Amino acid sequence: MKTDRKTRTLTLALLLLPGFALAQAPQNSTGAGVSKPLPLTPRQVEGPYYPTQKLADRDNDLTRVGNGRSAQGQELSLSGRLVDEQNTPIPSARIEIWQTDHRGIYMHPNDSGTADRDRNFQFYGEANTDEAGLFSFRTILPGVYGSRPRHLHVKIVPKEGPGLTTQLYFKGDERLSSDGIVRRLGASIAALLLDPERRSPNELHAQISFVLRRN
Ligand SMILES: [Fe+2]
Repeated sequence: MKTDRKTRTLTLALLLLPGFALAQAPQNSTGAGVSKPLPLTPRQVEGPYYPTQKLADRDNDLTRVGNGRSAQGQELSLSGRLVDEQNTPIPSARIEIWQTDHRGIYMHPNDSGTADRDRNFQFYGEANTDEAGLFSFRTILPGVYGSRPRHLHVKIVPKEGPGLTTQLYFKGDERLSSDGIVRRLGASIAALLLDPERRSPNELHAQISFVLRRN
């Protein structure tokens, strides 16, 4: 299956990436390697657009539906890692994302523009974390709507224990400072900021680490 191959390639790529150390446990002042618990990923509201209907195609590639044409918009790939407070990978968790198309329209009856959505976009996708806690998505840069900053919604569903719902934002977005939902985060917004880099003329790439309390 394409997801498995992608995930293996991703695992290797991430191990080689020096920047993928956001969730590395810090050493104590003696340098003896006794780790402090990592700060938990902050929660954010689910919002009114969690899908009421999920397409049959709900894989981790949101840039097309089935074998259809490519969705419009800037392609964005996302590499992630899920760990607990001790920086131990959490495997077999389901990571769900949902977002708007390139024009800021959701596939949802609460969105008055939903009839005009980009029907080549998948809007919702799932990925399972592997043994190293890694996952990946291929999507597009979400559009903006209302006064909200550009964002992706995320739900983490571990095999056991409580999950986490949150939202991811983009570094440098000028709408961040005036957004009420973001303001509740205070300084912990840093844990939810994506800082994409251009990998090729057509693709932006970002990475994220999630820290979830394990029961
Ligand atoms: Fe939203």
